[in-house]
Amino acid sequence: MSKIKESRIISTALIIMIAVIALAGVNYIIMQPEEIIYAEGWENDFPDQYQSYLRNAEMVQTTYGGSKPVDYLEKYPELRTIYEGVGFDIEYLRARGHVYSLEDVIHTERNKAGASCLACKTADYVAMEDEHGSDLYAMNFYEMAEGAKAGVSCYDCHRNQPGVLEITRGHLKKGLEYLEEDYNKKNLVCAQCHIEYYLDPETKEVTVPWKYGTDVADIEATFIEWNFTDWTHPRTGGDLYKIQHPEFETYLGSVHDSFGVTCVDCHMPQMQNEEGESYHSHHWTSPLHTVEASCLGCHSQAGNELIGEVEALQGRVEEKNIEVIQKLVELITRIEEEKEDLPEDVLEAVYQLHRSAQVRWDFVFVENSQGFHHYEKAMAYLEEASDMIEEALNMMD
Ligand code: HEC
Ligand code: HEC
Ligand code: HEC
Ligand code: HEC
Repeated sequence: MSKIKESRIISTALIIMIAVIALAGVNYIIMQPEEIIYAEGWENDFPDQYQSYLRNAEMVQTTYGGSKPVDYLEKYPELRTIYEGVGFDIEYLRARGHVYSLEDVIHTERNKAGASCLACKTADYVAMEDEHGSDLYAMNFYEMAEGAKAGVSCYDCHRNQPGVLEITRGHLKKGLEYLEEDYNKKNLVCAQCHIEYYLDPETKEVTVPWKYGTDVADIEATFIEWNFTDWTHPRTGGDLYKIQHPEFETYLGSVHDSFGVTCVDCHMPQMQNEEGESYHSHHWTSPLHTVEASCLGCHSQAGNELIGEVEALQGRVEEKNIEVIQKLVELITRIEEEKEDLPEDVLEAVYQLHRSAQVRWDFVFVENSQGFHHYEKAMAYLEEASDMIEEALNMMD
């Protein structure tokens, strides 16, 4: 064989080899597993978690809670006065299961400020934030919502590694920077959404007001420093705050927190499948449906006795809640009638007391456990609210 022919064969072989390597490389990139955002993608790999996840579509009511979308405006008509002008006087339904979160935010009659309203409603938001960064927040709500397909899903807590807990929400990481403690991830995955937050009026960024801590007074102090209020009440002319769903903040410092019991222990109890293997329930709902698995590992009472104790605490919170609701309506009516005649400094002081009272009541009212997560805290906030309203009413006498 001539030298030339030989080198031709070698170079042809080289080219083929390089081509094969290059193609394999391209192929390798193409074949990288796609991110799985929707629960269906894990149906075969994790059937127990997936099947329990499907149960989030169920709607069952309990005495004070549950997943039926109860109409709060019908249950408490006074809310039309208390929330007048902030949207919750138009429509306000009780929260239901995680699979409904996307459709519920799209269909609410309340106003949507921007795409950041999707932050706690869909796993697609995580992928959108990866793609658009901080430009996402103020983008058009409906355009972004069209691209989203599912409510809360595996990707929200695990990204692509089911079983490994990951904090996917930047707003929580930012909020936690203000706090000194290291919290258990089994609380933090829930705190991604079950916390107080607001949308920055300009950038629409999801903002967690924990600069001074997580108690209502700390959150109020943060609002004051950041010069934020949610709206001006059309009847009184005073500025007010609107609280969202501070389950995490309420639970902090409770008996259960101090014993290290996490959201997951009660709301995602260990279950067994037919083969006797255990897994965490992924049906997030009232733990009163699962007291045996959720509570009786620690509590020695009979199940219905323990439920009775929970409902007794919730009943006392409800009684106090109704008392404060009525006093708030009285205060709003009095301010509306008398504001023209009050000296400016008195009116300012009355506005301040109304704002502080209402934020304390709202913190308890919109928290979804009806005070169970931290009974003493809930009662103390309602007590403070009640005293502040008295003080404001007295100032107008
Ligand atoms: C000690 C057990 C326990 C812990 C810990 C706990 N919860 Fe709860 N949670 C309950 C009970 C009990 C209720 C009241 C359910 C009812 O009234 O039917 C509740 C209610 C709720 C509700 C309303 C559900 C409904 O169907 O009414 C949400 C949302 C919630 N909890 C979220 C959380 C989050 C988030 C955490 C952690 C920050 C947490 N919970 C920690 C026991 C617990
Ligand atoms: C709201 C947060 C959240 C979502 C959403 C979520 N998980 Fe989990 N998952 C958890 C928590 C918390 C654990 C318990 C982790 C621990 O104990 O360290 C867990 C555990 C697991 C495990 C480990 C085995 C077990 O059951 O303990 C698997 C597998 C898993 N999840 C799969 C899924 C799948 C599949 C989906 C979607 C259908 C999903 N998860 C959605 C929070 C979530
Ligand atoms: C990505 C945001 C997000 C995360 C993470 C999240 N939730 Fe939720 N959760 C929601 C939203 C939104 C709703 C209300 C959905 C609706 O009403 O459409 C909700 C509703 C609930 C309910 C009421 C459903 C019912 O049946 O009563 C419970 C209980 C609950 N979540 C518990 C948890 C727990 C426990 C965790 C952590 C393991 C968690 N959530 C993590 C967003 C989230
Ligand atoms: C890991 C252990 C543990 C789990 C799980 C647990 N608890 Fe508790 N719980 C405690 C401890 C400890 C106390 C404080 C001592 C006491 O009162 O028994 C407590 C106190 C209570 C109290 C009375 C005090 C109060 O103010 O809250 C109630 C009611 C209660 N738990 C209900 C429940 C319910 C309902 C569940 C399940 C949804 C539950 N617990 C799950 C350990 C636990």
